[in-house]
Amino acid sequence: MDPPPVPPHIVIFPLAAQGHVNSMLKLAELLTFSGLRITFINSEHIHHRLLQHADIQARFVAYPYFRFKIISDGLPIDHPRTGNHFMTAFNYVKSITKPLFEELVAAPDRPVTCIIVDGILTFTIDVARDLGVPIIAFRTISASSFWAYFCIPRMIEKGELPIKGDEDMDHIVTGVPGMQDILRCRDLPSVCRVSDLSDWFLQYVTTQTLQTARARALILNSVDQLEGPAISQIRTHIPNLYTIGPLHSHLKSRLSSSPSSPPPPSASNSLWEADRSCISWLDEQPPKSVIYVSFGSVTTINRHDFTELWHGLVNSGRRFLWVVRPDSLAEGGPGAVPEELREATAERGCVVGWAPQEEVLHHGAVAAFLTHSGWNSTLESVVAGKPMLCWPFFADQQVNSRLVSHAWKVGLDMKDVCDRVVVERMANGVMGEFAAAGADVARRAREAVSEGGSSWDNLDRLIEDIRSMRT
Ligand code: UDX
Repeated sequence: MDPPPVPPHIVIFPLAAQGHVNSMLKLAELLTFSGLRITFINSEHIHHRLLQHADIQARFVAYPYFRFKIISDGLPIDHPRTGNHFMTAFNYVKSITKPLFEELVAAPDRPVTCIIVDGILTFTIDVARDLGVPIIAFRTISASSFWAYFCIPRMIEKGELPIKGDEDMDHIVTGVPGMQDILRCRDLPSVCRVSDLSDWFLQYVTTQTLQTARARALILNSVDQLEGPAISQIRTHIPNLYTIGPLHSHLKSRLSSSPSSPPPPSASNSLWEADRSCISWLDEQPPKSVIYVSFGSVTTINRHDFTELWHGLVNSGRRFLWVVRPDSLAEGGPGAVPEELREATAERGCVVGWAPQEEVLHHGAVAAFLTHSGWNSTLESVVAGKPMLCWPFFADQQVNSRLVSHAWKVGLDMKDVCDRVVVERMANGVMGEFAAAGADVARRAREAVSEGGSSWDNLDRLIEDIRSMRT
């Protein structure tokens, strides 16, 4: 009898940051569950924190074709990773990519079929090409944000960038085809707000995005039925585009379709331990009465805005569950409840350092989500059918919040304003008004990841494409 065929072997290489590792691990789990062999490159620092959670450790150990490859990011494991650490780590990882790929490709027992790389690490494309290994890019952001980044040269050519000043912020942008009726200057990725076009970060993200077209294919955590206009535009430049999101929901859908699969993960692949006391608190609240407040894993908020938000929420009279991470405040120090709001907060608020977010969003007591519009949070809220009050900070979040308020019409956008009166008005406005649109958007997302849906079929096509690389 012939031995069973050896599965294709995929190396997955994320940027070492929570929002990136989280969704690329979901991609890895989808692929390994589908029978592919995975090597997931993880920085020692992130790996150490991830594996402190027994449930995450147990999940991945149980997959016979999955393994982590741990690398250093050039910093000591206990370095606080604040300040300039990002560029230090980035440059170090860049310097070791060639020997790392050479080592992986040379292993005789695990020939590499292809590499899936975080699309902001496109320096890897040439390294993989020199080694003769196909490379696919994955971007963690929305298709609309990716497309806006892609169009930066066009917006410069049209004179829309740099933005002239505050008076121009509400000007409708024409340089992002397919999205002309949606985007104002204010809604462009935050990097577009620089006044000097030679700004290194603007140059960097633009180059990375354009370089993506050199990869064999692009994978996006998006849904055709939610971001159709941007997706069809991207396809004209990158025909080999696989939209397979929302990944967290897709993973659950695949796992539950097979009786022998492990139970779906109960939480995101978080680097922090979730404080489950907030679920007991939610259990005691009336249905659809609570606003969940969280600004993701990296944003920091200044004390003025923090206080305005807190007053606005309390003045709205609503109940709220707020995630204040230990490193949430830009000025440092604990994000303590303002003295004058202690009583009201104790009466109708709950504050935790980190929540099991997906579970919270599906809880019957939660009515709405005050969010920074990170892409993972946005998709999690869409699937849970919860309206959003958006207060974007940076990067792709400005675009995502506009999708919520103007493309899908499932929430309100508080962009660039943090005033207690506005927070109070919008916190009340977001409750209950968006039920029909929210249900429709949730249905579209869920259908896409059900058998025969667009994301389900696109993942199957991606796997076929990877299998065909072996010939
Ligand atoms: C970053 C960027 O900010 C974001 O714009 C980009 O789209 C991805 O990378 P982050 O800011 O962390 O990510 O936001 P987001 O994408 O929303 O991811 C946060 C993740 O942490 C979500 O999966 C969320 O479920 C999880 N989370 C957050 C928790 O599990 N508990 C919490 O208390 C807060």
